[in-house]
Amino acid sequence: MIKPLAPSINPDRLTNIKKIRKRRIVMKLIFILLILSSYVTLADDDSSSSKKPGVAPVNNANYAEECGACHFAYQPGLLPSSSWKKLMTGLEDHFGENAELETEEQQVLTDYLTKQAAEFSSYKRSTKIIRSLIKDKTPLRITEIPYIIKKHDELTSVMVTGNPEVKSLSYCDNCHTKAITGSYTEDDIIVPGYGNWEEYEHSSSFFGRIKRGAKELYKNITGD
Ligand code: HEC
Ligand code: HEC
Repeated sequence: MIKPLAPSINPDRLTNIKKIRKRRIVMKLIFILLILSSYVTLADDDSSSSKKPGVAPVNNANYAEECGACHFAYQPGLLPSSSWKKLMTGLEDHFGENAELETEEQQVLTDYLTKQAAEFSSYKRSTKIIRSLIKDKTPLRITEIPYIIKKHDELTSVMVTGNPEVKSLSYCDNCHTKAITGSYTEDDIIVPGYGNWEEYEHSSSFFGRIKRGAKELYKNITGD
């Protein structure tokens, strides 16, 4: 007579045990992600960095007046000096508008912008902007910078260009309520019609929260 090699187990029971084990592992993973997400949400992106948060605020009244007439006066630390130079030499055709200045005024403001441009700033966002730019690239828009594009990839066109209270991504202060102070932190983002961004993201869905937790974790690890 042939002896069985192993005590016989009901194959149905075996697959059941496997299923339960799998489910336990999945539940554990979800739980870990949830804990991590609440932990990293508490650790504020800006304050955890030793660098000065945001970008340096505008400190030139002339600039604020001349360049803040049609949109808010962008901080010099949002673009590299080469971009400011290029932008300031084409003011007669400035994104379809005429923003020409007197020669002297143009000189003074170009000087202000280039001297405080992103590559000369020790503020966190300026450093990130410079790091994300491909060398020798001279974007004419802040909204063309890879770092800025990446940060806004969760916004839909309905929220931005299709939103009359926003108009376009160029109008930073329509969502970043403290943009004028140089602060772009997530706590102060209100997308018109959608409310506080953090709350919006939290309430969107269970998977939204998990995704956000993973994103925050990635952000903390990479320092992005
Ligand atoms: C007559 C109105 C007007 C004035 C004055 C003006 N701008 Fe603009 N600016 C615009 C418009 C319109 C856009 C494009 C907005 C859009 O695409 O929705 C723009 C876009 C920009 C952008 C790109 C924003 C982005 O999308 O990243 C920068 C940078 C900029 N302006 C800088 C300046 C500076 C510096 C001055 C002062 C010398 C100035 N602007 C004065 C109308 C103006
Ligand atoms: C339609 C609303 C809206 C507009 C307009 C907008 N932003 Fe944002 N911004 C957001 C949202 C939403 C985020 C994503 C926050 C997140 O989930 O991390 C963000 C993120 C950022 C971040 C990163 C913040 C962080 O904590 O990581 C920076 C920097 C930033 N925006 C700068 C700008 C600048 C500069 C402009 C204008 C040229 C601008 N934004 C225009 C909504 C907007």
